[in-house]
Order: sequence, then C-alpha cells, then structure tokens
Amino acid sequence: MRILAIESSCDETAAAVVENGRTVLSNIIASQVDKHVVYGGVVPEIASRLHAEAISAVVEQALKQAQVKLEDIDAIAVTYAPGLIGALLVGVSFAKALAMSAGKPLIPVHHLRGHIAANYLTFPDLKPPFLSLVVSGGHSHIVAVEDYTNFKIIGRTRDDAAGECLDKAARTMGLNYPGGLNLDKLSVGGNDKAFAFPRPKVDGAPYDFSFSGLKTNVINLIHNAEQKGIELNHRDLGASFIAAVTNLLCENTLKAAQDFGYQKIVLAGGVSANSVLRKKMDEGAALNGYELYYPLLKYCGDNAAMIGAQAYYEYLAGHTACLDLNAVATMPIDDVRF
Ligand code: KG4
Ligand code: ZN
Repeated sequence: MRILAIESSCDETAAAVVENGRTVLSNIIASQVDKHVVYGGVVPEIASRLHAEAISAVVEQALKQAQVKLEDIDAIAVTYAPGLIGALLVGVSFAKALAMSAGKPLIPVHHLRGHIAANYLTFPDLKPPFLSLVVSGGHSHIVAVEDYTNFKIIGRTRDDAAGECLDKAARTMGLNYPGGLNLDKLSVGGNDKAFAFPRPKVDGAPYDFSFSGLKTNVINLIHNAEQKGIELNHRDLGASFIAAVTNLLCENTLKAAQDFGYQKIVLAGGVSANSVLRKKMDEGAALNGYELYYPLLKYCGDNAAMIGAQAYYEYLAGHTACLDLNAVATMPIDDVRF
C-alpha cells in the first residue's frame, strides 16, 4: 500500500510517499528555519503563510521523487494534531482537497505517534510492544506502546517540554534557533560537571518530569554572571545543562522500563537527536540488558515519512476520516479523536 503523507504542524512543510509503513519512496522537507531565526523562534502566522506557499510544490516533488503519479497512491495521510493550529490547517485542508478530488481514503495521523513511527523506518523489524520516550519541542512523555495504535501515557512533563527547556537555555546563551541542536553542537567536549543544577523530582509521580525549575536556574545563572561582568564558559555550561536535562530523561525512562517490564526502549522526537541523550541511553540500556532504538537523524525532526509510516497502521486499524476532519492544536497521544 502506497501512502502520500503530508506534515505541516510546525515550521517544516513536508510530504513523503511511504510503502507499507516501512519503505520510504520519497521524503521532501521545505524548512522555514531561516525565516524564523531572526525572531528567535517560530512565529505561527508566518509559519501558516509559508506552508500555504510551499505545500503544492512540496507534494508535487514528493510524487516526482517517488516516481509515482497520484493515481498510483492508495491513500492520503495528514498530521491533524497536535501543533500550531494555523499551520496544521494548511496541511489538513490540502489533504482533504486532494483526497476528495482523487477519490482516495484520508488518514488522520497524530504527530507524536508519527515521531514514534520514525523508528519503523529505521528498524524494519521493530514491532510493539515497547516503551517510548517521546521528547520534542512541545512534549515530553514516557509512553507504553502496546500496539501500533494503542498507547498509554506513563509519565509526562508537569510544565515545560525538554526541547523547550534546551531551546530557552540556548537562546539565553545567545545561540540561534533551533537552540537544542546548536547547544548540542556547542557543548561537545565541555565539562558536564562544571556547573551544578538541581535534580527536580515530582512528588508521588516517579515517571513525571519537571523542567521549568532547571530552565529558570540556568537563565538566572547567565543573567547574574552578565550583571557581575563574569564570563561563563558556554561550552561547559551547555554540557552541564544538557547533562541535567538528559539525566532526568534517562532515569525516569529506565525506571519505567523496569517497573512495567519492557525489554525494548524507543526514543522519538526532535530531542532524540541529542548526542548526549543517545549515549547515556545506550549505556543505561546496555547495563540493564534493554534493547535501545532511536531513529536515523533524518527522521528525528519533523518529516512526512514518519507520518506515512504511522498512517499505514492507522489505516489497518480502520482509522480513516471523512471530509469534516478538522485540525486540533492539543490532543493526547492515547486519546485521539477525529
Ligand atoms: O520533534 P521536533 O522536530 O518538533 C516538534 O514536534 O516540536 O522537535 C524540535 C525540538 C526543538 O526543541 C529542538 O531544539 C530539539 O527538538 N532538537 C534538539 C536537537 N535537535 C533538535 N535538542 C537537543 N539536541 C539536538 N541535537
Ligand atoms: Zn515534531
């Protein structure tokens, strides 16, 4: 089954053709990063407008790269939640129009389910059940993936997402958006014990996260140093801060795997590209005898191939939508509606 997938939930306009949920025939991403960089983050109105300008050409390119025509496609998939509402609407409207005019089924896909499915593209034999750490710019969850379309949230952030926290630290250090990636690059070789950060725990919720205290801590540290004219070593500061964030992510994930009896751990979302998180989870998994999976770097950030992968399993589960499908800004991964 060949699926044409469309993704426009944030600042990447993307389209891909994916066969049977596992084989990527094409994967086109038109990034808007250089348009948002001057503002230090994504401006929703600009994102929507740029999606509208790019989407036709991106979809056309995806078909061309896959060497298929629209009539060779069996279904149209689209990210419909969660994300920036105006940005999602562009993809959803385009996908609905295409599905209607071509007479193809329409498959709505939850963005975070797509991030997890990026691993199916990287590991053709990977199958649920497994435990997943989903860490992106807007979400930080520990999710039990019981089946391809059956999810249960075990842990969640009580405040900021891990990516948001890394982005804010990077921005305060004067790094360009996207901060998490630039902070990762800057911190390579830094002393991760140079600065001490708190290890916030959520009382009575051992799998939950809290990142807002860490974020405030690093911002105060930088501002205080500026006021006193003290020059901080940004490489060491970045390494110490990344260590603090990734320690929390690793500890809770390994504990959840042990307590819930999962043998396989799967990393997903933009932050799963982080070199320190990968290394720490590699070590933690090896020590405890778990199998660890994380996506190829090209599938970590937002892309439509991962949406095409998840769409295949949503289709097999009978999850297709009518033309009254709407975009939704907020929706839990374990309670999807369309
Ligand atoms: O999944 P994603 O591409 O978009 C959302 O769905 O939010 O995640 C974006 C997040 C941003 O916070 C970005 O800074 C972070 O992923 N990110 C990284 C790295 N690459 C991207 N964070 C840490 N290290 C990286 N190498
Ligand atoms: Zn994402």
